[in-house]
Amino acid sequence: MSAIINDIEIIKAKTTKINDVDFDNLKFGHVFSDHMLECNYENGKWQTPKVVPYQGITLDPSAKIFHYGQSVFEGMKAYKDADKNVWLFRPLENFKRLNISSKRLAIPELPENYFMDGLQALLEVDKDWIPTNEGSSLYIRPFVFASGNGFHASPADAYKFIICTAPSGSYFAGDVKVLIEEKYSRSANGGVGFAKAGGNYAGQFYPTQLAIEKGYQQVIWTDDNTHEYIEEAGAMNIFVRINDTLITGPTSDRILDGITRKSIIELAKSEGIPVEVRKITVSEVVEAAKNGSLKEMFGAGTAAVISPISGFGYKEADYDLPQLEDTYAAYLKKRITDIQTNKAEDPFGWRFQVK
Ligand code: PLP
Ligand code: COI
Repeated sequence: MSAIINDIEIIKAKTTKINDVDFDNLKFGHVFSDHMLECNYENGKWQTPKVVPYQGITLDPSAKIFHYGQSVFEGMKAYKDADKNVWLFRPLENFKRLNISSKRLAIPELPENYFMDGLQALLEVDKDWIPTNEGSSLYIRPFVFASGNGFHASPADAYKFIICTAPSGSYFAGDVKVLIEEKYSRSANGGVGFAKAGGNYAGQFYPTQLAIEKGYQQVIWTDDNTHEYIEEAGAMNIFVRINDTLITGPTSDRILDGITRKSIIELAKSEGIPVEVRKITVSEVVEAAKNGSLKEMFGAGTAAVISPISGFGYKEADYDLPQLEDTYAAYLKKRITDIQTNKAEDPFGWRFQVK
């Protein structure tokens, strides 16, 4: 596929906001870099992307995104090493997944070079926004939504693909206490749970609010049919360590095929950690918590990286996890972030240099 990078028009912001940013105290996704990538789908075709100043978007009130939620997104991070080289982590996986999500939502798929060249053009312009503090990175949010108009409940005839970026610190402040969900579901067989569709997240907010009111930070999603199987941890994939075995559920219609998840599986296997990809029942986790074989639970995702779970609630009872000295979570988090930030060899070829 031919490069389109030279065709990407770059319209620079007249002033920069960077001097207002406290890079030592970054929240997650709270301040936004000076530029964004914008690309429109019109007349049956994706038009050439542009880098433009970060700005609002004007849409008609009948735009289908507002009424029918036709939108998908991705989450990625850019890192800068000590020599100021800029790195991404498995970006083609995000590109492929964006198109998998788009296809399910009847959104036109993007050509690979529009995504990859557009992203690199944007990062070239805003590379000063990539934080270098430990635990910080430039969070990247590519998204595609229906900008075309009309109340007819059918796919729009116009779309926007935008990438904006936010220098960010940790997603969670500390360990996370979770509630195993017994009533609500985030996804179902034949549904859109495997896609990063905006509406999946809106559907999680209310049950998550209820869990927060009870003193938990996140919901552990269970299968919609029986609520007997553990599937995801909020907007993260979930891992459970019973004795020394690391277990995660298989991906399905209902579960997002996380890039962090599949990297952890590969990394752990290569380090000799026993890994099982199989269904996990709520009852085995409760039983393991009771008999002391449940050593760790953690969520895994781009935003949260690896986020240890300190305890869980289920059927009005609370279960605490042990406070271990050496956890798989801490070890794997260091291994993966060292690869992402070019502090360690990358035998898997996951790191991608932005030139
Ligand atoms: N599961 C859900 C529902 C998510 O939203 C995310 C976040 O992207 C993940 C899992 C983790 O996926 P990844 O590791 O690709 O970020
Ligand atoms: C990510 O981990 O990048 C995600 O997309 C999760 C998000 C909802 C913050």
